[in-house]
Amino acid sequence: MKALIVYGTKYGNTKKVAELIGEGLKTVEGNTVSVESVKEIDVEKDETYDLIIIGSPNHVGSHIGTVKKFIKNLPKASLKGNSFAVFDTYMGKDFEKATRKMEKQITKVMPNMKKVSSGLSIKVGGMKGPIVDEDLPKCKDFGIKLAK
Ligand SMILES: Cc1cc2nc3c(=O)[nH]c(=O)nc-3n(C[C@H](O)[C@H](O)[C@H](O)COP(=O)(O)O)c2cc1C
Repeated sequence: MKALIVYGTKYGNTKKVAELIGEGLKTVEGNTVSVESVKEIDVEKDETYDLIIIGSPNHVGSHIGTVKKFIKNLPKASLKGNSFAVFDTYMGKDFEKATRKMEKQITKVMPNMKKVSSGLSIKVGGMKGPIVDEDLPKCKDFGIKLAK
């Protein structure tokens, strides 16, 4: 499987989740995984991925602007994905709030992309993190689950 993980981040926690999911995906031999910042990704590259995983921190109850823009531009991008899954990081009580909004936006702009899993929502201990201990193992596990 060829997978792409695209993340937005302010303090680095969502990047860390992206990298750990990537580690999980790579546990299955033959899988290739690219982990890229939403700020740096070239959407004009001619690549088709079996799976695109998109992640964002929760800012004011939703995914961040750069991630919204990436999703919005997917229909006209050269980069393609056959299926998707999402993840977020949040503080407080906003479990799965941004993942649900991302899923909704992706399904709206790319109705043919298949959702392969419900989203992963990872809690951070404060605005700048870190990821709470109990949620840390869930990141790699999510990658392992998606790899199968
Ligand atoms: C401007 C701003 C708004 C935020 N709003 C929320 C919020 O509404 N709900 C929430 O659970 N966390 C909120 N947070 C906390 C972020 O979710 C947390 O900073 C983020 O998960 C850390 O990820 P990062 O290191 O990848 O930036 C907010 C953070 C910032 C900076």
